[in-house]
Amino acid sequence: ETQVIEVDPLEDGRKVYQQAAAVLAEGELVALPTETVYGLGADAYNCDAVAQVFAAKERPSFDPLILHLANARQLDEVCTVPEELKETVEKLAQEFWPGPMTLVLPKKDVVPDIATSGLPTVAVRVSAHPVMRGVCKALGRPVAAPSANRFGHISPTSAGAVLKELGGRIPWILDAGACSEGLESTILRPMLDEKGKPAVELLREGPLVRDRIRKVVRIAKPRKPRAGEGEEAEAAPNAPGQLPSHYAPTKPLLLWDAKEEFTPEEGVAYGLISYQGDSPLSMQECWANTISLSPGSGRLAEAAVRLFAVMRQMDEDEDVQVIVAEKVAETGLGCAIMDRLRRASAARG
Ligand code: TXA
Ligand code: MG
Repeated sequence: ETQVIEVDPLEDGRKVYQQAAAVLAEGELVALPTETVYGLGADAYNCDAVAQVFAAKERPSFDPLILHLANARQLDEVCTVPEELKETVEKLAQEFWPGPMTLVLPKKDVVPDIATSGLPTVAVRVSAHPVMRGVCKALGRPVAAPSANRFGHISPTSAGAVLKELGGRIPWILDAGACSEGLESTILRPMLDEKGKPAVELLREGPLVRDRIRKVVRIAKPRKPRAGEGEEAEAAPNAPGQLPSHYAPTKPLLLWDAKEEFTPEEGVAYGLISYQGDSPLSMQECWANTISLSPGSGRLAEAAVRLFAVMRQMDEDEDVQVIVAEKVAETGLGCAIMDRLRRASAARG
């Protein structure tokens, strides 16, 4: 009973945004596209609606949501930017919004605790996608939207993928085609560093890469575990939802170096996710299926856009039991791609 509604932002945008906003205003959920991945939207100020988001995703209540704003001016409505960070936040907003950047800032009381999992901070972003922004504007309130997948699964980069994840659980999916970035937004927490200078903590790697952030603000070193906290603290996620196992296919996924020989286990069918498709690893003959992230050209941007769809395709291939993914170079977007691959390959509990 989930309706998939095709929307062409150029043609019929306004009317559909208003209809979707009306559905949200009634406390129901709408899945909608952003430039990164599809989100599962709810009226951020409606606690029951927000609770339904957690239920539909089977998401644990300790994992807070991102609030989507129609524009940067709405920031003051939901959070308090500390005086000493105002200039930095303004610069970041100016440079990177609308776009794939999420900021974590002290929240105001209008934001219900359920949306932030009781944290004193709230994650906010202004998406560059006309559909997400149009719906936010039509609703006149922030739209709380995590990625539209069941918890721990692969994030959806198309309406079809949302339907597979949440079909039957939500009334509406707005379909505006494939997402242009393909990986979730970069999450930054503006803060003062040990010298009292403005900096950001990088809580999640994403399409906004380190080099571009550094042109605006220093990236602080990740917080070191305090004495006695040991390994457990080191493995603990910076953003509460960033668990070691995440973005995961249902099949086991192994990360492999493109130059290292892979020795298949007898009787197991392997599928390879390669980068460009011409590595020694992809030339091996043991693969039941191979899909390349950026066939021929080896461009990180193309690999990022295709990553989740390719992971899904391998997961659905009945001839494949175990997925092997080739490592990519950790420069620029490669950092975000490797972050997702590592979490996809992490042992599940
Ligand atoms: O690109 C995106 O960010 C997509 C689209 C739909 O906007 N959304 C998305 O949401 O990826 P989600 O819920 O899958 O991931 C949000 C992450 C979670 O890991 C959560 O822990 C973190 O943001 N987060 C939310 N609020 C936070 C807070 N107050 N402090 C630290 N991390 C926070
Ligand atoms: Mg997610």
